[in-house]
Amino acid sequence: MTGSPPSISSGLDPAVLPNPSRRGLITALVLLAATACAILALVLLSASRRDPYTQAVLSQPGSAQDGGRLFRLNCAGCHGLAAQGLVGPNLHGVDRRKSDRQLIQQVVSGRTPPMPRFQPDPQAMADLLAFLHSLP
Ligand code: HEC
Repeated sequence: MTGSPPSISSGLDPAVLPNPSRRGLITALVLLAATACAILALVLLSASRRDPYTQAVLSQPGSAQDGGRLFRLNCAGCHGLAAQGLVGPNLHGVDRRKSDRQLIQQVVSGRTPPMPRFQPDPQAMADLLAFLHSLP
């Protein structure tokens, strides 16, 4: 940029601030930005922790047997009767790739078509989770 500097100093104007304090200012800004990011991450994390549906699912033990029944009715058409994969992927060991929260999101969000959005009640979702955990 050429021409005369703006009449209102931005605070970062090298003509106004000597170098050491400029560096201090930049450090302070970087620290401020990092703190803001950390706070945002914490807020988002605790929001997902507080999500009442996920909490309800995770707070009760599921039955892998009931989950298996739900799976054969709702999921086997795409994932195969033995969850070996068909239209949808093989689900054996999926609990090592995805956390419980991610698995719940996968089932209820409908974010990965053609897999539809399911709305199981918390007990049914806990059963499905138990079933997914039972797959070797
Ligand atoms: C209409 C077909 C269809 C149905 C029905 C379906 N899925 Fe899926 N599912 C998919 C497809 C396709 C994907 C891959 C999505 C992607 O990641 O692009 C998938 C992905 C998944 C994943 C993640 C797999 C991984 O490797 O990350 C899980 C877990 C899953 N499905 C569970 C279920 C459960 C439980 C049900 C029943 C409640 C179900 N699905 C019903 C098609 C289906």
